[in-house]
Amino acid sequence: MKIALVGATGLVGSVMLKVLEERGFAKCELLPAASQRSVGKEILFAGRTLKVLSVEQAIEAAPDFAIFSAGSAASLTYAPQFAAKGTTVIDNSSAWRNYEHIPLVVPEINIDSVRATDRIIANPNCSTIQMVLALAPLHWKYKIKRLVISTYQAVTGTGMKAVNQLMSERAGEECDKAYPYEIDLNVLPHGGTFEESGYTTEELKLVNETRKILSDKNIMVTATVARVPVIGGHSESINVEFYNDYDIEDVRHLLQKMPGIKLYDDPEENKYPMPRYVQNKDEVWVGRLRRDESQPNSLNMWVVADNLRKGAATNAIQIMQKLIDIWHL
Ligand code: A2P
Repeated sequence: MKIALVGATGLVGSVMLKVLEERGFAKCELLPAASQRSVGKEILFAGRTLKVLSVEQAIEAAPDFAIFSAGSAASLTYAPQFAAKGTTVIDNSSAWRNYEHIPLVVPEINIDSVRATDRIIANPNCSTIQMVLALAPLHWKYKIKRLVISTYQAVTGTGMKAVNQLMSERAGEECDKAYPYEIDLNVLPHGGTFEESGYTTEELKLVNETRKILSDKNIMVTATVARVPVIGGHSESINVEFYNDYDIEDVRHLLQKMPGIKLYDDPEENKYPMPRYVQNKDEVWVGRLRRDESQPNSLNMWVVADNLRKGAATNAIQIMQKLIDIWHL
């Protein structure tokens, strides 16, 4: 198996290297690629030292898969060039997610949306992935009418510059700012950029991507994204209104059965998911399940996951694993 990793020197890229090794790809022919400034640099993969290639060199090698985490501009330019070589691209940027003909995939939910002829597949936004994985089994049984979401997102979701900002502020040192305000000891109700509507791009991803992955354009979604001084792990408070009434014990049962979900909900023992404790874990953690008593058929839940793992690297690599399986590669 020949696999290109575009963005191998980045924050998500480094987690992808780890996840590839963990998931049985240590012996694959890995082609790490990045921008021109990194070409020739060395990276470590599964005990081997590999030289970073240019994206053009990686395309030329016509790998079986190219996993991208290099931003939208690089994806828009290079994904079609890989596709033209017959390579299947799994793209972690937002470049392709909203195109009708491009599958947007959380493998536990909708791997069957990928056709054998698809050469570009989009990996959803981190906060969408963890949310829809927890919602899918409930939607299949009780049908979601409306979602009200508030997120508490970690700085790794913004990138290395944001991690540096948080750590520098904590150490009292000067640094380049990723955010317009201090992030340490603060909460910024601002993820992505503001649109004319007053919503941010991160908030709209939760709206559009949820509908696409759950194949239901009628789900009403409203979201507020906040950035919190947490290094890794996004948390979400989700209020779900169903068309049909539900049984809370059945909800627990459905979540326990859902692959990729870990139900961790025992308030009497102070057991609820927190970002500090989900780091380096692949599951999406769900807790604080309780009936919303202010209106019928409604539920509150708290969902936490490692945004660089299930929110990015793990989901992308799981897509590849499923396709290898389905396509008998
Ligand atoms: P480089 O390290 O050479 O800049 P992050 O998400 O941490 O910012 O990382 C982004 C990743 O995407 C890095 O590996 C970066 O490479 C890579 N990258 C950014 N722009 C391009 C580009 N135009 N072509 C290829 N790789 C790119």
